[in-house]
Amino acid sequence: MKLKIAVLPGDGIGPEVTEQAIKALNAIALEFDHTFTYKHAPVGAIAIDETGNPLPEKTLDVCEATDAILFGAIGDPKYDNNPDAKVRPEQGLLRLRKSLGLYANIRPVKAYETLLDKSPLKKHIIEGTDISIYRELTGGIYFGEKYLSEDGNTASDLCLYTKPEIKRIAHLAFKAAGSRNNKVTLVDKANVLESSRLWRKVVAEVAKDYPKVALDFLFVDNAAMQMILNPKQFDVILTENMFGDIISDEASVIGGSIGLLASASVGDKFAMFEPIHGSYPQATGKGIANPIASILSAAMLLDHFELFAEADLIRKAVEKALILNITTPDINADHNVSTSKVGDFIADYISNPNDSNLNFKNIHLGQSTII
Ligand code: IPM
Ligand code: MN
Repeated sequence: MKLKIAVLPGDGIGPEVTEQAIKALNAIALEFDHTFTYKHAPVGAIAIDETGNPLPEKTLDVCEATDAILFGAIGDPKYDNNPDAKVRPEQGLLRLRKSLGLYANIRPVKAYETLLDKSPLKKHIIEGTDISIYRELTGGIYFGEKYLSEDGNTASDLCLYTKPEIKRIAHLAFKAAGSRNNKVTLVDKANVLESSRLWRKVVAEVAKDYPKVALDFLFVDNAAMQMILNPKQFDVILTENMFGDIISDEASVIGGSIGLLASASVGDKFAMFEPIHGSYPQATGKGIANPIASILSAAMLLDHFELFAEADLIRKAVEKALILNITTPDINADHNVSTSKVGDFIADYISNPNDSNLNFKNIHLGQSTII
């Protein structure tokens, strides 16, 4: 298969983790005889520095002319503590999602057997967790009308949803549940918010098309508690934009590190693949950022094009890295390796998955003394 991929590394650790995902994709291309070509373009703080615009027209053109987008991270501390900044890096990502119609953000959360002890949560609570979060991505409070009074003393953000916006992501969530464990949990705040009551109504209607899938409802405050009390109760979580943002960061604690969580943002025409972590500015350039979220986002990209064997091989390589402890300091305090060494190992494993040498770890890290 020939795929043109737009690469938007963005800010902070974005470039170094995306580079590792590209290594994995290149190894896959070689093994399976695909041709992947990449076109890099700026977004975020780096694009503001270059052009004054967090999403330059040219970057959007590149995205529209490619088959898929691999996104790194966005954000820079110089904007975080400046509420008066008129242009912000995050606007680049939000405009990208909106312009490309990426309305569904899919965030898988899994407790890896090998990492059960790395989570601050108890092993028996998280063991076996396997959740897919369907977060609405182009509506709600993120995109509703914003208001700031002239005297600067009053502000508001409107949370607006329409029935078609809810319907289209609800269908995706139910379809996904149908090929998983047949359960959708709608997370909302229907005891307080009118928009949440609309979600309940529309989602209950959509549920009728999927009789095998059970639907239940949870208020977001309770869902936040249930997520750490008993995460195994969840299969597919369906929720609006802001609740999905918050609940998915919380869920990342189950896996042991936010550096492991990948996501796919899909619409009717375009698809973008991005780790859920941010730009982690303190780590930039230090080689300590975990590239696995970005590498697993590349696996989701392959899934999107139905290259399932290819995606599985990436996931197998990631699992091998976790088993052998070839990981960064966020999940490996004592014997960690660098961001790029994790990437090298994973790419190398993809090329030589059957290497049965006893010295596997060292050989794949290029440290072997045995030739
Ligand atoms: C995410 C991020 C973004 C969001 C930010 C960077 C705008 O936190 O992808 O979860 O809030 O959606
Ligand atoms: Mn977030």
